[in-house]
Amino acid sequence: MAKIAILGYGTVGSGVAHVLDENVPEVTGSAGEAVSVKSILDLREFPGDPHEAQVTHEFREILEDPEITVVCETMGGVKPAYDFTKQLLEAGKSVCTSNKELVAKHGPELAQIARDHRVSYLFEASVGGGIPILRTLAGALASERIDLIEGILNGTTNYILTKMEEDGSSFDAVLKQAQELGYAERDPAADIEGHDACRKIAILGSLATGAHVNAEAVPTEGITKITADDLKMAGQLGMTVKLLGSVKIGAEGLEILVAPFLVPLSHPLASVRGVFNAIAVHGNMLGTSMYYGQGAGKDATASAVVADVCEIVRNAGRTVPVSLQEREVKLIPTGEAVRRFFVSMDHAGEAGFQGLFQDGQAVSSGDAAGILTAPMKESTLVDKVAGFGDRIHWMRVAEA
Ligand code: HSE
Repeated sequence: MAKIAILGYGTVGSGVAHVLDENVPEVTGSAGEAVSVKSILDLREFPGDPHEAQVTHEFREILEDPEITVVCETMGGVKPAYDFTKQLLEAGKSVCTSNKELVAKHGPELAQIARDHRVSYLFEASVGGGIPILRTLAGALASERIDLIEGILNGTTNYILTKMEEDGSSFDAVLKQAQELGYAERDPAADIEGHDACRKIAILGSLATGAHVNAEAVPTEGITKITADDLKMAGQLGMTVKLLGSVKIGAEGLEILVAPFLVPLSHPLASVRGVFNAIAVHGNMLGTSMYYGQGAGKDATASAVVADVCEIVRNAGRTVPVSLQEREVKLIPTGEAVRRFFVSMDHAGEAGFQGLFQDGQAVSSGDAAGILTAPMKESTLVDKVAGFGDRIHWMRVAEA
């Protein structure tokens, strides 16, 4: 019998206990032995919870318990999760986590500490919740030369964009509705400003290259400037708007960013609606394959954490390899990329706007005007629109 601990008994942590309680034969079969929760660290009490008796407020009880071999860190945030994880790995316990912020920031260092102590640090649940994308990259796609990963990596923003498109509502109105329904956090900044998706694409870029993509260096834009008119004009062009995390891997380095893109309806990610996530991976032999599912949610995310527990227990005594190294990777400035752009202006009659892009395709909706440009360097576009200040906003266009 393998004994585990859970750090943080919130949504994901309680989901881990639930999955272990519900799927006993499946977990036992996969791990090769039964798995039980011995301790749960949380500041709170949980009267009436089936695991009430296992709750402790003392981290040291878990750290110093020789019976506990695997710890699920489902606290989120960097502090104190980083210190706890480091101490656990150094004490010879494996750790698995859903904590994308910690993995994006300290993943390579923690993976090295795990290797040094012949234990494992796994983080399947940190990207795409219940979509088994990290294992797929490391296993099923291991012989591929991955050159492009594009993903809808945040359910909250995909829900907001889908509703804006369906209802013609403003960003602010849909955000408020999403908060009332519990889809968006009270403090939604990490989602709507793109930081959550940034951490996830940084992890994907790191795994695909075997180096470290520093999330803080990834250009990141959110969806707060998108208007209902933008979505209508995108529709007229046979496209939709999606917040994409994108990483293009070339000989010169990585083109990586998070930003709202116009996505042609023929693109596999265009049909991903509502809170769902999807990740499209292009490999040199395989072509494009896409992975779709619930990017968040208690049981879906917990299922991925428990899959890591099973893999660790199955491989007791050795480190489950993960392709995370501390070597930094070279990022190519976004200004170098050549692509089409969609430029939009709130006031259709603004002098000079239509003349900016003579060979572009013009559309309009309400008072707003938009232009789909011919392919150009991003730095050229930025120079062209510089004089218009905040009256113009623009988005990149994804290749079909
Ligand atoms: N807040 C995230 C989302 C889920 O909306 O997708 C956790 O990563």
